Amino acid sequence: MKIVVLAGGISTERDVSLSSGSEIYKALKRKGHQVILVDLFLGLPGVHGHLEELFDSEIDWAASIRGVSEKAPDLSEVKARRPGYRSILGPNVLELCSLCDIVFLGLHGEGGEDGRIQALFDLYGIRYTGTGHASSALCMDKSITKEMFRCYHVPTPAGITVRSEEELILPEDFTYPCMVKTCCGGSSVGVYRVENEDELHVALKEAFTYEDHVIIEKCIIGREFSIAVVEGKALPVIEIAPLTGFYDYKNKYQAGSTIETCPADLPSEVTKRMQQHAEEACAAVSIQSYARVDFMLDTVTMEDYALEVNTLPGMTPTSLMPQEAQALGLSFDDLCEWILAVSLK
Ligand code: DAL
Ligand code: MG
Repeated sequence: MKIVVLAGGISTERDVSLSSGSEIYKALKRKGHQVILVDLFLGLPGVHGHLEELFDSEIDWAASIRGVSEKAPDLSEVKARRPGYRSILGPNVLELCSLCDIVFLGLHGEGGEDGRIQALFDLYGIRYTGTGHASSALCMDKSITKEMFRCYHVPTPAGITVRSEEELILPEDFTYPCMVKTCCGGSSVGVYRVENEDELHVALKEAFTYEDHVIIEKCIIGREFSIAVVEGKALPVIEIAPLTGFYDYKNKYQAGSTIETCPADLPSEVTKRMQQHAEEACAAVSIQSYARVDFMLDTVTMEDYALEVNTLPGMTPTSLMPQEAQALGLSFDDLCEWILAVSLK
């Protein structure tokens, strides 16, 4: 097949996306496809005419993509490469995508995972991997996802959404610690664990530098898990245990900083219930194809709580869904083929 792998873009998860995209690109090449890796934002400048010939050429810059660093990127440098930009679509991106059989989305975050590229592709009749524009948009915003979970009785931690520090009214039963999260962030950029009122205000100030909507959520004390769902069916549960702190940006992408166990060591009834909640969470937000749901398990009550649905889960060397596929006996390359197959149905 002729496939464009789209990665990069302008979100805070740009570097994560480049890592996902280069892994997907290499896997699809190994499977014998004609693949081009394209940065959504930078595109392919200076290429004129006969774009279809690019599928037969060897533009291979995946090897030059370095791993994900400890901190999210400073995007001003990326944006400065296209002064006066208006569009987040780089040159030739749309034209090239309209020439392939399917676009494999290696994008994460704003502009790639929020439904906008999906809606554009729908209008142009371009096929792409993953769920559609409406569910992408729903899941991009954790406060809306939480409302959908509540509507469909998927357990989720109590939380409120605030638009400014001034309008903050904490519920009467509010307790510390709590989590402060930007509504539309990813990879834990703009996520803070807060122990007291002073820290709450510091975290809110910081979070509002990213977005104008922020969630304050009850902190579930216990263990952290994640479950991918493909075509409505849950994969094996993975446990995530960072060696220090919580599963933040550094612990997500620095190899060796988190212990991941799949299948997770849990009583079978807890595993089954969490898998069922993952399937229900995806149904609540109308996921097509695949997604990954993150969970906390309260280790006193053994109740699990769905945190969010990731519609374009990471595909980096430390990411979770590839490890869950591995537990089913599927290699990374097989997982990419599976995602293609379910997305083309
Ligand atoms: N947002 C990152 C890529 C994930 O959920 O894996
Ligand atoms: Mg996420």
